[in-house]
Amino acid sequence: MHHPVLLQAVLDNLNVKPGGKYIDATLGEGGDTMAILEHGGNVLAIDMDENQIAKFKNKNAICVQDNFKDIEKIAKENDFYPVDGIVFDLGLSMRQLNESGRGFSFKKIHEPLDMRMNTDEEETAADLVNGLNKDGLYELFASYSEDLNSRIIAEKIVESRIRRRIKTVGDLIAVIDKAIGRKDQGTYRRIFQALRIAVNHELDNLRQGLSGALNLIGVEGRIVVVTFHSLEDRIVKKYGGGQLVKGDRNLQFERSAKLRVIRHD
Ligand SMILES: C[S@@+](CC[C@H](N)C(=O)[O-])C[C@H]1O[C@@H](n2cnc3c(N)ncnc32)[C@H](O)[C@@H]1O
Repeated sequence: MHHPVLLQAVLDNLNVKPGGKYIDATLGEGGDTMAILEHGGNVLAIDMDENQIAKFKNKNAICVQDNFKDIEKIAKENDFYPVDGIVFDLGLSMRQLNESGRGFSFKKIHEPLDMRMNTDEEETAADLVNGLNKDGLYELFASYSEDLNSRIIAEKIVESRIRRRIKTVGDLIAVIDKAIGRKDQGTYRRIFQALRIAVNHELDNLRQGLSGALNLIGVEGRIVVVTFHSLEDRIVKKYGGGQLVKGDRNLQFERSAKLRVIRHD
């Protein structure tokens, strides 16, 4: 669920009109979908996490469990095309972070290192951590987190897993601590986010999702994208997204959020 400031910014920029058609590509806990419905819009909502779809009980939206990278196919299959607006609110929802039991948060040290948003996918974060070679791990951390300790963390992972497979959040935290010689939440956050991006192929999903979305919006249609990561933001910019709102510290959880809008002229 968004902070109210961000939710209002999403609504304003989607320019929701009664009777209009909108796609919420990231249903989550349903904050955006509910708000669009309340403003009289029709909604097709997508989430690749079946738990999010199962918990959303409002019958007025069409809900589909799928990956938004196939948004064009999903919309056409549901006869929901062309549309007036599409929202992508990227990243994790609070429920996934706090309740999913899939090791998304570095604070949940007893959880398995899973990080799949879609549990039908095969590869977990533990599979990557235990399966990639040293260079592969370094590449993953360096390119997705830009963490300066990426090399030493990759080395310590490879050293440690010879003795015992790295299975839980706590196992990985212990290796990071050993690698950098201290406890540092910023490092944990960056490394965990990098793993999550890799496990869920998040950057490829975004590229494909935006390409599909551009084929779905009608004249004057808008695509609103909320990002939490500079790599995602760079992709949205390439697709023509102009930045409108930047989160600040007062937005708490959403302190690094950026909102961009792509318009169809
Ligand atoms: C930040 S949350 C959305 C929160 C939502 N706007 C709300 O108000 O509750 C992002 C959601 O997008 C979903 N998601 C992330 N990547 C996806 C993808 N490629 N396809 C479909 N859903 C995705 C996640 O499972 C998560 O539920």
